[in-house]
Amino acid sequence: MRRKFVAGNWKMNGSLAALAELEAIAAAIDPRVDVAVAVPATLIHAANARAGFPIGAQDVHAADSGAHTGCLSAPMIAEAGAAFAIVGHSERRQGQHETDADVKAKAEALHRHRLDAILCVGETLDQREAGQAEAVVTAQVLASLPEGAAGDWLAIAYEPIWAIGTGKVATVADVETMHAAICSALVEALGQEAADAIRLLYGGSVTAENAAGLLHAAEVDGALVGGASLTAAKFVPIIKAAAG
Ligand code: PGA
Repeated sequence: MRRKFVAGNWKMNGSLAALAELEAIAAAIDPRVDVAVAVPATLIHAANARAGFPIGAQDVHAADSGAHTGCLSAPMIAEAGAAFAIVGHSERRQGQHETDADVKAKAEALHRHRLDAILCVGETLDQREAGQAEAVVTAQVLASLPEGAAGDWLAIAYEPIWAIGTGKVATVADVETMHAAICSALVEALGQEAADAIRLLYGGSVTAENAAGLLHAAEVDGALVGGASLTAAKFVPIIKAAAG
């Protein structure tokens, strides 16, 4: 069985004062679970000094340097102390018009610089209601999949867009069906052994209350947690649920 992986995504939240939460999380970590938190880029350096577990960025530019005002490259986030970055979060695919090709290039930039990646995919409510969820998500996986995709640096997070920050959680059955579809797409692209090594996370309104059911569903190797990762009081029970 693959080790469970619980990753937090602070989005545009947090401050130097909030880093005390990371220390409280570190103090309660279960050795059976991999834990990581993606913080705002301004906090990476300080968070890394205090957390004692991997700290990441929430995005990265595909290029190593150049005329890209406001962007940060993989070497820059690595120098700040990031061990990984999230790529392809739906808030960036939608808000910043990032394409599958962009997401793939970003993941490849991370790998070039020996950083890990959490690659997000997910369907809209309209796509789900039209019966297209699996087709949309597996197409995203295949088009976003970086060269050299391997489980020692890449995890894939299935985050149905309608479940993010809404309190609406996908059912365990929906998640199992989708994760099975993603597994099949990965097997097709990479072969069984490489596909088996890539961890699949679920994200979207994961809380202490629903974590146990989701985290122990078939083909679910962990969770990507937004709102409930902001405090140790909410995040630690999710880590414990992963261990249990
Ligand atoms: P949420 O966010 O847990 O607040 O729904 C999840 C995510 O966007 O990664």
